[in-house]
Amino acid sequence: TYVVTQNCILCKYTDCVEVCPVDCFYEGENFLVIHPDECIDCGLCEPECPAEAIYLDDEIPEDQQIFIDLNAQLAERWPNISERKAPMPDAENKKGELGKLAFLIK
Ligand code: SF4
Ligand code: F3S
Repeated sequence: TYVVTQNCILCKYTDCVEVCPVDCFYEGENFLVIHPDECIDCGLCEPECPAEAIYLDDEIPEDQQIFIDLNAQLAERWPNISERKAPMPDAENKKGELGKLAFLIK
């Protein structure tokens, strides 16, 4: 399955949502996740993310492994998002910033 990682936090560009054929993205206040049981591994979303936040689970960097569980958990209780919307206001400044997990609103 594909997984959204730290780079999405505080950015939320939502370009990924637009290309997903099965609408398996779920939205929190400052982060998006992929439902692991719904993702069909098409890979379309990965190159669309301007923040390079999306990885195949086998290829997630060592320090981002926690996001596998976070996507699975949060997708169960966040609402579905199926249409693209404006990025977060500070997205360009926060893009690629490290340590954003501390700011994740669950
Ligand atoms: Fe959707 Fe395909 Fe991305 Fe999975 S890999 S979240 S099915 S666009
Ligand atoms: Fe997040 Fe990238 Fe999608 S920033 S909302 S994973 S396009």
